[in-house]
Amino acid sequence: MAILQILEFPDPRLRKIAAPVTVFDDKLEVLIDDMLETMYEAKGIGLAATQVNVHKRLLVIDVSEEKDSPQVFINPNFEVIEDELSEYDEGCLSVPGFYETVSRPKGIQVTAQDKKGDTFKIEAQGILATCIQHEIDHLEGKLFVDYLSALKRNRIRGKLEKEHKKSA
Ligand code: NI
Repeated sequence: MAILQILEFPDPRLRKIAAPVTVFDDKLEVLIDDMLETMYEAKGIGLAATQVNVHKRLLVIDVSEEKDSPQVFINPNFEVIEDELSEYDEGCLSVPGFYETVSRPKGIQVTAQDKKGDTFKIEAQGILATCIQHEIDHLEGKLFVDYLSALKRNRIRGKLEKEHKKSA
């Protein structure tokens, strides 16, 4: 397994729209394992392929306390089943060090494929529903900072650009 490099805002590659996964082979399984390892190492609860510069519709998530319940969603779509909004202080491995409140629908039904290509459906509430919506946004080139005011977003961009210059 390998730790992959995570792209950081405002890297323009985070704005690419991901293409559907069509081949379910060993290479895909290696990518899934590497993404899980990368997510656990970075202490994240979700990671989209876009964030590791692979522009395919694939997410890994683990919202469990013990970090022992990995979930993989390939070509995911969701429908809102509870449109009441819930608020979370969201963070993102591509926007390190920043947490801001975002409102999203509370309950969703997700349809996706597993690593073998079999389709499954789950219902998600709470933090899992938020996390899945956040990760699916990545596949559309969208980041949680897009939900914030331009003022806040630009302030975060400025701070991260400064960090990137320092470490370049
Ligand atoms: Ni994220």
